[in-house]
Amino acid sequence: MIRLIAAIDRKRGIAKHGYMPWNIPEDEAYFSEQTKTHGGKVLTGGKTFRDTYKSRPLVDRTNYLLTRNKQPIKGVQLVHDLTAWLASMDNQDIWIAGGADVFQQIIDAGKADELYITHIDADFGCDQFFPDYQSKFRLVKQSDTHSQNGFNFTYDIYARA
Ligand SMILES: NC(=O)c1ccc[n+]([C@@H]2O[C@H](COP(=O)([O-])OP(=O)(O)OC[C@H]3O[C@@H](n4cnc5c(N)ncnc54)[C@H](OP(=O)(O)O)[C@@H]3O)[C@@H](O)[C@H]2O)c1
Repeated sequence: MIRLIAAIDRKRGIAKHGYMPWNIPEDEAYFSEQTKTHGGKVLTGGKTFRDTYKSRPLVDRTNYLLTRNKQPIKGVQLVHDLTAWLASMDNQDIWIAGGADVFQQIIDAGKADELYITHIDADFGCDQFFPDYQSKFRLVKQSDTHSQNGFNFTYDIYARA
């Protein structure tokens, strides 16, 4: 099963000026906890890996990096051809951890089975967005409202409609 995991604001915003414009450690812990389940295989795009992960692999997970760069990176398996890689991983559990470009390609390819979305009840004026998913997915699980650092958010799960 292919699962996308993202935190999004009211307008589906995921980043502003290259970074997530909020500080919610509880959601970071949720991301860490969830992506260790179902086998812990996580695919990340080059920009997110460099800018958000500071080029460090996620601990206790198998890291796959989608990139056109051929330079090997310790602790990371490079993926240069997304279609071929998805075919090679057929029937395995995979987490897709962004960013915007990678989420869009997976949704457009019709490969996403589930979406783990943290909905943050705010508008950050983001300039990068999670793909439009509402018509293709249905809500199957919604958490109670959590609050941290002045933000209200829920952890929701969607399945392909
Ligand atoms: N809110 C959230 O949950 C969340 C989650 C993750 C990321 N983000 C944010 O998303 C932003 C980054 O998103 P982004 O769209 O700019 O970049 P991205 O999706 O992280 O990475 C794009 C990069 O992935 C590689 N790539 C993409 N498609 C490829 C393909 N078909 N074949 C080979 N390589 C491919 C290329 O890497 P190379 O340049 O290495 O060749 C490309 O430059 C950041 O601001 C980050 O903070 C937010």
